[in-house]
Amino acid sequence: MKFADRLATVGPYLFFDLDQKAAAARARGVDVINLGIGDPDLPTPGAIVDAMVEGARDPATHRYPDYQGALRFREAVAHFYQRRFGVALDPRQEVLGLIGSKEGISHLTWAAAGPGDVVLVPEPSYPVYAVQARLAGATVFSLPLTAGQGFLPNLAAVPDPVWRRAKLLWINYPNNPTGAVADRAFLADAVDRCRAHDVLLASDQAYSEIGYDGYRAPSVLEVPGAKEVAVEFFSLSKPYRMTGWRLGAAVGRADAIHALSLVKTNTDSGQFTAIQLAGVRALEPDQDQAIQAAVGVYQRRRDLAVSALRAAGFDAAAPRATFYLWVPTPPGLSARDTAALVLDRTGVVLTPGSAYGESGEGYVRLSLTAPDDRIQEACGRIAAMRLV
Ligand code: MLT
Repeated sequence: MKFADRLATVGPYLFFDLDQKAAAARARGVDVINLGIGDPDLPTPGAIVDAMVEGARDPATHRYPDYQGALRFREAVAHFYQRRFGVALDPRQEVLGLIGSKEGISHLTWAAAGPGDVVLVPEPSYPVYAVQARLAGATVFSLPLTAGQGFLPNLAAVPDPVWRRAKLLWINYPNNPTGAVADRAFLADAVDRCRAHDVLLASDQAYSEIGYDGYRAPSVLEVPGAKEVAVEFFSLSKPYRMTGWRLGAAVGRADAIHALSLVKTNTDSGQFTAIQLAGVRALEPDQDQAIQAAVGVYQRRRDLAVSALRAAGFDAAAPRATFYLWVPTPPGLSARDTAALVLDRTGVVLTPGSAYGESGEGYVRLSLTAPDDRIQEACGRIAAMRLV
């Protein structure tokens, strides 16, 4: 059978592909160290697990969950936004529960854009923004992120005819994969431009809680008037080490939340209610210290990896946020060649920067989500290759 033409616009999901390469190496007996995907190795805090277990024992959670997310969960998200960012949200109109941000990112794209429309996508970036735009039949207009511009898109360079066809602009700070951060002035400029061109601003806020040396990332919704323009995706995956639980929320602009909800509720159901109750527990103020403890661990790993890579001759910069190092490849080696060579010779999985877009060429991404001794071991193996 010939499947739908739109399938020709996508390849295997990046991390599915990397997992298969890692599994093949393991099958050959290689001691694989996976610094590819950003999947925290630290366990979910015990209080959150306990809340899920308690919730699962209540038969009321065994029935279909609320389509838009349990009101208690949406209220917890609203309280968190008030406490953390000083942003007031109406939990009924401006918060939607998600089966992880990835689900919402996909469904928002289908709600916002279709054939004839443009989606403005930074690159390198989380592959889902561009892939879903293409699946929805929209045209992707790429916004290169380069070191020279602090890995911020040059919105002033987007031509007017492109703005006129644009429906959606993606931003993601703290940034995956580069580790860059954006200040309020950048966010305010993005809000202004989206307002001027009647474009929905979508902010992926997955890494907002992972900041180092006292850095606290702002929310785009802190910009006055942003709620008329922007939707933000908040994920419990990275701050609370809950990647496997699949829980997130979309917050902000009410008509966009409604549009996303229309696609979502016609496509899937809500997340298991016991998991949402665990999310309520996670968002209570006492869990802030669980986040800070993990951030301390990542900061220590960041410092040890950066100094080991620098000692080996790599030009590795220490990011202010996220748990990713964005490291220039050795001279003469492409991102894919570097990642393949490192996996082949050392068993260390890195993500080739070019997999996130063509401006990611010349970089590999290293995730700090493995124990300290494994990161140390991985850097030692890479150093022994004498690539630089
Ligand atoms: C990443 O490593 O880029 C992300 O963890 C992937 C994801 O969240 O799906």
